[in-house]
Amino acid sequence: LLHSYLNFRLLGINTATMSLEQAKQVAAYKAVDEFVTNDCVFGVGSGSTVVYAVQRLAERVETDKLKVICIPTSFQAKQLIIKHKLTLGELETNPQIDVTIDGADEVDSNMILIKGGGGCLLQEKIVASCSKKLIVIADYTKDSVKLGDRYKKGIPIEVVPMAYNPIKNKIITLFGGEIKLRSAVAKAGPVVTDNGNFILDWLFPNQSLDWQKVNTTIKMIPGVVETGLFINMCQKAYFGQPEGNVIER
Ligand code: 5RP
Repeated sequence: LLHSYLNFRLLGINTATMSLEQAKQVAAYKAVDEFVTNDCVFGVGSGSTVVYAVQRLAERVETDKLKVICIPTSFQAKQLIIKHKLTLGELETNPQIDVTIDGADEVDSNMILIKGGGGCLLQEKIVASCSKKLIVIADYTKDSVKLGDRYKKGIPIEVVPMAYNPIKNKIITLFGGEIKLRSAVAKAGPVVTDNGNFILDWLFPNQSLDWQKVNTTIKMIPGVVETGLFINMCQKAYFGQPEGNVIER
């Protein structure tokens, strides 16, 4: 405890007033410090928590003279890499990634993730699938027992635009629940992903579901590009706590 307290003091964090942002930061810093090594190929996730991971990576590259090639999972991640003057790579030249650090919208007790709250699930899953390790960084609100207990916006599903309506009907017929076509602002047009697709947010029914089966079945529907269900992909998760410590799972 004393060790974490000293760490937060060093990071300029007052342990009495830990905010959600600070909880994200402590998780991100810890993951980068434990997993980024010299000469590694590093997958850069997307979202607000990853911003802190890239910040920490840039510090480590500068102070410890680490050589790291960064593979982005989104336009946002690419911009972060460029902004921090890190080395930008791509899967074409670096198809094997040592470690990817990414955020999540929810992590259940079996380490199944819901991802895609920021709409980047397709590239995130591709990069994760090319990584020896996927490490999740998150604040304490993402730590869950059962999917849907904490994240109330459902499972994001990336779809080819022309097929969004039939896909929506098919998923509801198969599994029930409710589906919303994601839009940035109410009554505005749909959100378009980095890959030119739409996102459906599936508010799945509150019953026990076999997520592996659900994932495979949804992926078989023509026009579905990817789901935000990450199953058997994540090796470790770091959850920043309100008290300033980090819980590892
Ligand atoms: C984007 C994602 C993000 O990693 C996820 O939404 C978590 O984001 P944040 O760190 O902002 O809470 O999957 O598609």
